[in-house]
Amino acid sequence: MRKNGIRNWKVASRYYFRLPGAIGRTAVRRTMQAGVFITFEGLDGSGKSTQLRRAVQFLRRCGHRVLVTREPGGTRTGERIRDILLASKTGTLAPMAELALMYAARAQLLEESIRPALARGDVVVSDRFNTASFAYQGYGRGLGTAAVRAFDRLICGRTQPDLTIVLDLDPERALGRALGDARRPRLDRIEAQGLAFHKRVRAGYLALARQAPRRLKVVRADQSVEALQAEIQALMGSLLDRRERDSKFKIQDSRFKNRGLKTA
Ligand code: TMP
Repeated sequence: MRKNGIRNWKVASRYYFRLPGAIGRTAVRRTMQAGVFITFEGLDGSGKSTQLRRAVQFLRRCGHRVLVTREPGGTRTGERIRDILLASKTGTLAPMAELALMYAARAQLLEESIRPALARGDVVVSDRFNTASFAYQGYGRGLGTAAVRAFDRLICGRTQPDLTIVLDLDPERALGRALGDARRPRLDRIEAQGLAFHKRVRAGYLALARQAPRRLKVVRADQSVEALQAEIQALMGSLLDRRERDSKFKIQDSRFKNRGLKTA
């Protein structure tokens, strides 16, 4: 009996006292297997692409494997759909057709890239994703969030971003920046929608952030590039830390269960 008692204690102590160090690497691997999904959102001209580039550099420096993508687009088919959506020559699209095309491109991207990358344990960083449909089509076009949610349940289902960073900027400034950007030949079909539309989109982003404050983080885009970058890195860092802690707890839990030992 006593012998068994000592043996069990030894087994328990091996797994209990050595947990933090012993599972460090495993925990990271498990976290990575689950994958992490981060999306960047904001009005055109909010500086989103610059910040996304810096965020990806930061994640890679930290040793993560990162898939970078964008919406609408990101796949061959998605890029063709993007052309239809953004080319001025497309002219007027029925708002519901616009929404359906956004989700058609998204369905392809999820299937081809996002879901496989998350299953591999990569960090996926997307320049826009489903929150843009809620803000632009739901609020901007006035379709309402229920219509967007119906598409979203069907196409995205449980594949939802873990963190969405919304770069918030006054629409007049954002459009001014977009117009002044020498890299753009001219405003695309959606950018050219006018100030009232972009004001509704911004109000939409802020309303969505109030509804989902844990996932949607609004950052002020009118600060310096470096200050904004630091704020975004802190948000990503705390998500990745949380993920690592959660997976450590899960591993600890399953190790104790497997050995018939009680967990707290
Ligand atoms: P961007 O790639 O330069 O950000 O342009 C994409 C445009 O498409 C931008 O004006 C926002 C718009 N958009 C929507 O209206 N709904 C969506 O679901 C997505 C992903 C983008």
